[in-house]
Amino acid sequence: MKLRERIGVDLGRKIRLEEGIEWAAQNAVKFIDVQLDTGENVLTTFDAKRCAAVRKQLEKRRVRLGLHTRDGGVEVVSGLAAGQVLAVGGGSGMASMIAAIEAFAQQGARVVTAVGAKTAAELLFVERANSAGEVHIATDDGSRGFAGFAPALAEKLVNREKFDQILTCGPERMMKAVVDLAKRRQIPVQASVERYMKCGIGICDACSLDDQLVCLDGPIFTAEQLERFEEFGKFRRDKSGRRVPV
Ligand code: FES
Repeated sequence: MKLRERIGVDLGRKIRLEEGIEWAAQNAVKFIDVQLDTGENVLTTFDAKRCAAVRKQLEKRRVRLGLHTRDGGVEVVSGLAAGQVLAVGGGSGMASMIAAIEAFAQQGARVVTAVGAKTAAELLFVERANSAGEVHIATDDGSRGFAGFAPALAEKLVNREKFDQILTCGPERMMKAVVDLAKRRQIPVQASVERYMKCGIGICDACSLDDQLVCLDGPIFTAEQLERFEEFGKFRRDKSGRRVPV
């Protein structure tokens, strides 16, 4: 793909999403991004019917879509109608997930969040997640909540009740354990993969995950996509571009 073809346009909140997709197709723009906080694109307007229509329009027009909120959270539109959601966030991964947790709650989903961190002092967004649903805490040193890692806590929650889908973001080994748990229990999962991103438009290869680029092809992947990758949960690129263990 040529550089010009990789350039996207942030439509912000100025235009209705469906009109933005048409505009992009007419102007040979392959990537667009919209904000979901206010106006005609506010998250609560994305029911299952609108999500399905947007997916169809994107496929027909061959346009790829990014979504953002003022809090920086991202989530794929396809997941917004689920009823019972387990969110598993580790460390700074909670910063990427909190907007999704709140969006699912706004859509009427019951959201149970397992928040993990090394110590109680490093826990993030517990109060906001608590306002959106039920929260369980895991700390490596046992200073608050369950003494252990977030995937072990997630397994307890999966044993306790049925979930329609799992969201996860955090250290890659943690996410690998959560994805493996979801596969064993046959629960759909979306993992927001973290990589060093230098260019963000598919040039530098810093964010590679096997033959995919997290900045373009992700950052959210399903279990079906992740199981094809040899590097997920094992290798990433460091700041200098060397392939190193995660
Ligand atoms: S290719 Fe540069 S950040 Fe993805």
